[in-house]
Amino acid sequence: MDTSKEPSSTSNDYDVLPRHVGIIMDGNGRWATKRSLPRTAGHWEGLKAAKRVTLEASVIGIPYITFYAFSTENWKRSTQEVAYIMDLLATRLFGELDFYTKHNIRVLTRGDLSKLSEPARAAIEATERATREFTGTCVIIAVNHGGQDEIVRAVNRWLAVRTSQEPCTLETIRTYCDLPQVPPVDLIVRPGCEKRLSNFLLWDSAYAELIFYDTLWPDWGPKHLRLALDEYAKRARRFGGVPT
Ligand code: FPP
Repeated sequence: MDTSKEPSSTSNDYDVLPRHVGIIMDGNGRWATKRSLPRTAGHWEGLKAAKRVTLEASVIGIPYITFYAFSTENWKRSTQEVAYIMDLLATRLFGELDFYTKHNIRVLTRGDLSKLSEPARAAIEATERATREFTGTCVIIAVNHGGQDEIVRAVNRWLAVRTSQEPCTLETIRTYCDLPQVPPVDLIVRPGCEKRLSNFLLWDSAYAELIFYDTLWPDWGPKHLRLALDEYAKRARRFGGVPT
């Protein structure tokens, strides 16, 4: 896939980098409608933006970046739009294996995969397997993800193996969520004008910094990620403590 825009830099000049960035890829539909194109064209451009931003994250050295590709609520969309996004997963995710290999990028997914089509699940499994040894940036695709749903599934996983009357704790939820090895998200960025979390990474975002932008997701590229990182570097994170 030709994403045409090159990274803005090849060096990491940040003193303070988030370990984990989450991106709510919003505005694909509006981007397309403004151009009298079908909404699916916005998702295609959104996928290209995800590749541009992934490359920049990898150049900068961000350890984890999660892209919100499909929520547990997105099934309410038209059959055609849902099928298109699922088809992108099935046909494009593994199709970028050369890109992941070249940039040492590991791919993981987060969400309830049991409801996805067989081709989408097969592509996810193949991509995760093929990239499991890569040690650079870890790209996480949140698909059929809902923060509330993830917490419920974590509790149910725990209940299925619980042997005594021990209570559920913070550690229980952390251990049984989809990706316990991935650190909590430090920075959530939402393009596309709206200012809400939309059920994204609810447990892990307890102390995330939030940044909202008007630029629609398909227009995003390296410079937008760097703007967000610059803003993040200015934030004082106290996690409920007092300024030092
Ligand atoms: C939100 O914009 C975007 C989505 C619900 C889908 C995003 C999916 C992709 C970019 C494709 C991902 C595929 C892979 C393989 C990672 P919106 O449609 O809600 O935009 P709107 O608010 O303007 O209507």
